[in-house]
Amino acid sequence: MPLALVCLCLLSVTVAQAQSTDAPKDTGSSDVTVTLHADQPLGKVNPNIYGHFAEHLGRCIYEGIWVGEDSSIPNTRGIRNDVTAALREMNIPVLRWPGGCFADEYHWMDGIGPRDKRPALINTHWGGVVENNHFGTHEFLDLCEQIGAEPYVCGNVGSGSVQEMMNWVEYMTSDADSPMANLRRANGRDKPWKVPYFGVGNESWGCGGNMRPEYYADLYRRYSTFVKNYSGNRIFKIAGGANVADYNWTEVLMSRAGRLMHGLSLHHYTIPTGNWGRKGSATEFDEAIYHKTLSRTLFMDELVTKHSEIMDRHDPNKRVGMVIDEWGIWTDVEPGTNPGFLYQQNSIRDAIIAGLNFHIFHKHADRVSMANIAQTINVLQAMILTDKEKMLLTPTYHVFEMFSVHQGGTFLPLQIETPDYTVGDSSIPAVSASATRDADGEIHLSLVNTNPNQALRVTCSMNGAEAKNISGRVLTAPKFNSYNSFDAPETVKPTDFDGASLRGNQIEINLPSKAVVVLSLR
Ligand code: AHR
Repeated sequence: MPLALVCLCLLSVTVAQAQSTDAPKDTGSSDVTVTLHADQPLGKVNPNIYGHFAEHLGRCIYEGIWVGEDSSIPNTRGIRNDVTAALREMNIPVLRWPGGCFADEYHWMDGIGPRDKRPALINTHWGGVVENNHFGTHEFLDLCEQIGAEPYVCGNVGSGSVQEMMNWVEYMTSDADSPMANLRRANGRDKPWKVPYFGVGNESWGCGGNMRPEYYADLYRRYSTFVKNYSGNRIFKIAGGANVADYNWTEVLMSRAGRLMHGLSLHHYTIPTGNWGRKGSATEFDEAIYHKTLSRTLFMDELVTKHSEIMDRHDPNKRVGMVIDEWGIWTDVEPGTNPGFLYQQNSIRDAIIAGLNFHIFHKHADRVSMANIAQTINVLQAMILTDKEKMLLTPTYHVFEMFSVHQGGTFLPLQIETPDYTVGDSSIPAVSASATRDADGEIHLSLVNTNPNQALRVTCSMNGAEAKNISGRVLTAPKFNSYNSFDAPETVKPTDFDGASLRGNQIEINLPSKAVVVLSLR
């Protein structure tokens, strides 16, 4: 399969001026042409690309997930029911926990046994609040069982011992008559859990210990040796990866420890202004910042490409997966909220960011084996926001739910010719697209129109596929900063899409401005 076909999905070939109309021009010709090569299927899109991340940070775990058994908020063993129902609906394949930076100061034994006897600690990274450890290993693994997600546990390298990490894995996964397995039984869980993913530290170049890659590579070799497979549990070991474009980190890790890992992580956040000191508001931004944000998020493609090239040199058979276990937009916190809690709103801009990143991950499906958006609830680019007993679904939630049809599908390469969306002297492709075929033979085509001012007419020709029926859903919004609030929780939500029609092996699509569309073809 020529690589060029895979790599063209974000290429823009012509430049069009932004116009202020939401109806496609009736010129009879297309603004965008897509050629879908259904006859040249590539590998599978790993479902774990649609993974999530929940840290002990702000109101993600406490209030967002854990309310306690005595809460008036309906719950199952302390975990709120409205949230688990919404997460099940979204089909979360994998959930990363307990951090993030928190992971490297977390001592798992503080979070087991009777809750009233668990010691408290100060969450030094996130607001300096007291962590009562009421949500620990049993509660997390119960959550995973309730929502049908596989657990991805991140171990403590920064301030924890090898023995502590080894014991945790034995505690969770061993069925033997052994000290840790018996302790788990004494705490009420007879059967071991399956824990398929284990991270050996987090951001060891920063909050996880400020290490040099050479030093961390040695520590990874040592710690990971003692992350054992007990009782049929097979662990996919994930090494802490680079900070954004630190390619040397990937080089050193792959050359010194590559053979001992199954996955290597990568973190990249989209900062609207590019300035960590003043990142920009989640909802109050102009079109220049809107454009800049989307342009910055597209940098993910370059990052994945360059880190992949390094991994390819050391691992040409692509045995080691790239695990993008923190990604998403990071804005200023909502005014009046604790700066350490990272609580931000979520607009249609975030939904578009999610769609663009998924298309990038699909394109690199041969190397990217998992991605975990930061974070599930009430933190950063969240799926769900809560206000005590109230809960709302964000635009990002809706994209995850709409795109869940891509999980595990076969990637179908496509070429796209799209105008640019230009603001000032900066241009990005107006349209991005990606397609997969599911196990039943249905083709799912997702499209993102980044342009907030102009609907576009798209013609998609399919090679090697015919369809008789087409259906779809669209997520768009009145303004490029529209969001769901507790007063108006359904401002941005998906609706049925009637803007696509089939003519032979051609699909005509009227793609609304600032929109995410998912089409299904049977
Ligand atoms: O997701 C918030 C924080 O961002 C994580 O704790 C850390 O790993 C990263 O710097």
